[in-house]
Amino acid sequence: MNLTKAASIENLVKKYGSPLFIVSGEVLKNNIQEFKKIFSLKYSNVEVAYAYKANYLSEVLNIIHESGAWAEVASGFEYEIAKRAGLAGSSIVYNGPGKTKDNLIKAINEGALINADNNDEIKQLTEIAGERNKSIDIGIRINVDVGINQIVDRFGFNLENGDAFEAIKLCKDSGLLNTVCLHLHLTSYIVEPNSNDEYIPAQNIKLIWPKSADMYEIASRKICELAKEINSKLGVEIKYLDVGGGFPSIDNLDLYAEKTVKPLLSSFKDKYPTLILEPGRAIVKNAVSLLTTVLSTKTLQNGKRAVTADAGINVLPTSFWSMQDVRPVKSNGSDLKDTIIYGPLCLQTDILTNKPMPEFKPGDRLIIENIGAYNIPQSSSFIYPRPQIVMIENNSVRLIRREETIEDISQLEEFNPS
Ligand SMILES: Cc1ncc(COP(=O)(O)O)c(C=O)c1O
Repeated sequence: MNLTKAASIENLVKKYGSPLFIVSGEVLKNNIQEFKKIFSLKYSNVEVAYAYKANYLSEVLNIIHESGAWAEVASGFEYEIAKRAGLAGSSIVYNGPGKTKDNLIKAINEGALINADNNDEIKQLTEIAGERNKSIDIGIRINVDVGINQIVDRFGFNLENGDAFEAIKLCKDSGLLNTVCLHLHLTSYIVEPNSNDEYIPAQNIKLIWPKSADMYEIASRKICELAKEINSKLGVEIKYLDVGGGFPSIDNLDLYAEKTVKPLLSSFKDKYPTLILEPGRAIVKNAVSLLTTVLSTKTLQNGKRAVTADAGINVLPTSFWSMQDVRPVKSNGSDLKDTIIYGPLCLQTDILTNKPMPEFKPGDRLIIENIGAYNIPQSSSFIYPRPQIVMIENNSVRLIRREETIEDISQLEEFNPS
């Protein structure tokens, strides 16, 4: 997003305050349209189901759904947001390990594609189908080994040990569940195994980012092979192959599309299944920036410069596992020196980045780019309220979410004076 004009930044701060999230409508629109185009040029039957968890601001969803994209949701809560965004159940892919029976009944009644995560969910779906006396089309979440030194089997059924085949057989044998979709998602970070039982997960997070395009080819080939196996052994016919999200930005997507699609083109002769993609960060990450202001500076005993800005991990929780792209709005030409940019929270861990930067003084503005994925939905009112969010579209700026107030928070509380 091009936010380099210092003058317009000052106007934004004057009108909307700091910190300020800035969403680019144009970047969003371009991302969602290009994402679909890049895959569609290689495979004719593609649906993009945008992963709500990355950012479900209504105005963001409006732009994304205007392009015809489906929704990928991971809870009853996100499912309702998709309904409010105007989506029919048939345009919703419902994933996740936490679906309740009520969630499932609603999604079935409305024609959503449910990807079952575990045996208990399959049991519930079978019960529901029995109660309705009607079979249900479902998907099965599969996890596959793509060579990241750990089989990520937290979600779904493992392919290599035969669990995935058994789950599909169980559905078939029930006579009530038709497996029409095979779903997987290549995670972007794992919690590495640790021999210490009391280890803290955050200390062991390993980013798998960016993932190599080869991982998509391996995963795609493996589910294509499974689709063929269940067809020949169980007579199950797959209509959808859903390879999830985890893709890099659209600038580097071409190779990923080529590798993902290759096994589909060679595995299916005439009846090609619909390829579902569930991008989150590739659509929203570079469409949002955060404007923040330097509050104070000091030099630490180790010689590093320390800067406290007015936005911290309360609004940018992804700083826990990756450094942010911070740059000054105006370059002052001073020498670059090792600098830690802290947020304003009373926490040692409130760090946004750690890199050579020019000298700052209170009042200087900083821009943090590429923060559109996973920050806004995970931000909280910890110590500070959540800031305003504006959308810039067609050269005009509009407020799309106002700053959180104490009233907003206290409205949720119940006062029971005794
Ligand atoms: C099932 C599923 N689909 C899609 C996504 C979106 O991933 P990304 O934002 O990396 O594209 C996720 C993220 O966790 C996911 O779990």
